[in-house]
Amino acid sequence: MQIRHTNQGFNFYKYPTYENDIDPKQRAWIEVRGKALETNVRELRSKLSKNCQFMAVVKADGYGHDAKLVSEYAIKGGASQLGVATLKEGIKLRSSGIKQPILILGNLYTKKDLIISFKNDLMPTISNIRECLICNNIGKHFGLKFSLHLKVDTGMSRLGFEYNRFVQQFEKIKSFENISIEGIYSHLSSADEYDSLDPKSTTQIQRKKFQELLKQINVDRNHNIKIHLANSAGMLINKDFHFQMVRVGLSMYGYSPLAKIDKKLSLKPALFLKVKVAFIRIIDQGVSVSYGGKFVSSKKTKLAVLSIGYADGVPRNLSGKINVIYKNKLYPQVGSITMDQMMVDITDSNEIKIGSTMILLGSDGDKTISPLDWARESNTIPWEILCSFKNRLPRVQVD
Ligand SMILES: Cc1ncc(COP(=O)(O)O)c(C=O)c1O
Repeated sequence: MQIRHTNQGFNFYKYPTYENDIDPKQRAWIEVRGKALETNVRELRSKLSKNCQFMAVVKADGYGHDAKLVSEYAIKGGASQLGVATLKEGIKLRSSGIKQPILILGNLYTKKDLIISFKNDLMPTISNIRECLICNNIGKHFGLKFSLHLKVDTGMSRLGFEYNRFVQQFEKIKSFENISIEGIYSHLSSADEYDSLDPKSTTQIQRKKFQELLKQINVDRNHNIKIHLANSAGMLINKDFHFQMVRVGLSMYGYSPLAKIDKKLSLKPALFLKVKVAFIRIIDQGVSVSYGGKFVSSKKTKLAVLSIGYADGVPRNLSGKINVIYKNKLYPQVGSITMDQMMVDITDSNEIKIGSTMILLGSDGDKTISPLDWARESNTIPWEILCSFKNRLPRVQVD
């Protein structure tokens, strides 16, 4: 029997069937703008004195951007150290060929984890004598020095040596021959609060406490020990917070944590969240949209169904509170955001078609939607928005 060819030149066999063959822009994706990261680091470094180092904080997969990519561009921009949260994050960067010093900001407390850290040339954060001793023993066993950073608690009540006991404990630590103290640091709890310039603020008190401690242990600029305190907000307050290194996350990704200081910086968002229109439908007046019928059309309405939902990391409590950009115009999201999809009112557009790309985060023309907007609307912080994006969203690098 002869098969009739009705496919009009369509080659059914050339299409791949493997997961990795699927176009990363098939559904929804995160565009990571390497050049923006690089120039943000340059811009931020220009606020530091020449000898102050820049640690790029790339934990949580580079705040959702892809840690390896962020690290490479941050290093191009002048970052000399990297900060991760976990042992695994550190090992992953080492395996991808990153040579710069890496500090693990979380706590490692088992001998096994500390040995793995040592073998991967990762510096742990040490918050008590017990772990310091383990590091010293590991160093002794290998006939080497174990490089680490000591952390002191000045008001965060998270990790760090107890403030009042540190001076005494530091004397003991100095006698450990197989550790190399690369840094002493503390972490600010409230630097992004509006009052951080006020001398009586928690932030200024933390700085004074930290400085007092350094005086007592007699560690000054002549030592090779790097002193560091500031996160993004801390570094943007003023130079008193810089010491020998700053640990910068949020602002490197393009967002200032301090509204007052925003205007003095030209930071560029390094993340765009984009999505394809998967379907278009027209509904009559009085028709409910999505779960729970929270939105009912007040007129005949054209809806675009976007292939993204809370399983991708878009908070469900943003339902009905955000806009989406298409060609320099904003379109309101309507109805409950579902696990994998959401609806947008595109009644005003004749251009948007199935397969069109819309922007959830990022900018086009003079329209910008930032994680800071989403954070405000969903009563959280931009850090959480960025870290919530799931692996289901491919990260696509653009320069
Ligand atoms: C210890 C430490 N240092 C620095 C940072 C970077 O903070 P930011 O993103 O505000 O710059 C963080 C982030 O949470 C942190 O935990």
